[in-house]
Amino acid sequence: MNVLVPNAAVAGNGQITSKALVQAGITGLGHRVPDRIVPNSELETLVDTSDEWIRDRTGIEERRIVAPGETLAHLCEAAARSALEDAKLSVLDIDLIIVATCTPENLFPSTAAQVQNALGARCGAFDLEAACSGFVYALICASQFIATGAMKNVLVIGGEVMSRYVDWTDRNTCVLFGDGAGAAVVSAVDNGFGLLGFDLGADGSGGELLRCAVLPNEVNNAKIYQSGREVYKFAVEQMGASAVRGLESCGLTGEDVDLLVPHQANIRIIQSAAKRLKMPMDKVFVNLQKYGNTSSATIPIALSEATKSNRINSGDTVVLVGFGAGLTWASAVLKWK
Ligand SMILES: CC(C)(COP(=O)(O)OP(=O)(O)OC[C@H]1O[C@@H](n2cnc3c(N)ncnc32)[C@H](O)[C@@H]1OP(=O)(O)O)[C@@H](O)C(=O)NCCC(=O)NCCS
Repeated sequence: MNVLVPNAAVAGNGQITSKALVQAGITGLGHRVPDRIVPNSELETLVDTSDEWIRDRTGIEERRIVAPGETLAHLCEAAARSALEDAKLSVLDIDLIIVATCTPENLFPSTAAQVQNALGARCGAFDLEAACSGFVYALICASQFIATGAMKNVLVIGGEVMSRYVDWTDRNTCVLFGDGAGAAVVSAVDNGFGLLGFDLGADGSGGELLRCAVLPNEVNNAKIYQSGREVYKFAVEQMGASAVRGLESCGLTGEDVDLLVPHQANIRIIQSAAKRLKMPMDKVFVNLQKYGNTSSATIPIALSEATKSNRINSGDTVVLVGFGAGLTWASAVLKWK
């Protein structure tokens, strides 16, 4: 599948024009994680687990957890301000805000509308829910508005407060997750740069394997339930496969990739994806030891850290790949500018 769609575009308020499509790319990045660090040793006091087990099976050493009164919108707003600064844009330059999250504090209003208000932006705003694949889904969605010329700058945020939905008595899940937010400004870039290709997928038949119900009569109401081994098998299969399909959509292979920025759930899952792409681990960005699985926030936080530590240079081919509840998966191939 290629990003470029037939030769018609939407301008401004929905007018169809015949102008050429515009290439969309990431022009600014930022992230925010809570200050409070929760090391594995602290979880040993809550459930029957050990630092050694968590490191060996997942690679996670610590995670960040929000303070009382700290909200998802706070994390998203801070990440967004940092991304806007990085892109050298004012809040009034933003045409749309998309927040990818699966842990909103309200069913409505949307987190995106709260962020719009907190930023003082004057634009539309909506939430997108594709669990841990959410940021990549939102990035691809935002790129379509830029490609058609309908918008100039879209703010895409992946943010989660997983800690509110974690069952802190369940050792199978509570050791895995953390809180945080990452944001990207998506704008027009020169031809040949930006989003080159992508892959989006879903298989709702696996919905029961990883879920968080909100209906009042549900068992485990508003707590994360997971069939760990089944999710692991799905992740190992789809993470590499989705990245391969994304690369194939723009005629590339794993050998063309300078940096893989995968969803940070489990180091063993990441290693298997790298193997499938025939990529050495030194071309894979990993920070899950510090933050655990922050769901839709893992990829934008990782991207933000990767650019700030000069792991990404102009001209690099970068692949983002995520998987998660739904079940869903998504990958995006970017030529960095
Ligand atoms: C959850 C996960 C780390 C478990 O690792 P695993 O190697 O598959 O471990 P298993 O599920 O086979 O469990 C092995 C044993 O460890 C135990 N165990 C599970 N969690 C534990 C913990 N935190 N501490 C100690 N023991 C634990 C299990 O109860 C099981 O014990 P048993 O053999 O007596 O039944 C792994 O399955 C995983 O990462 N799955 C994918 C999760 C994921 O990525 N979710 C998010 C998707 S976006």
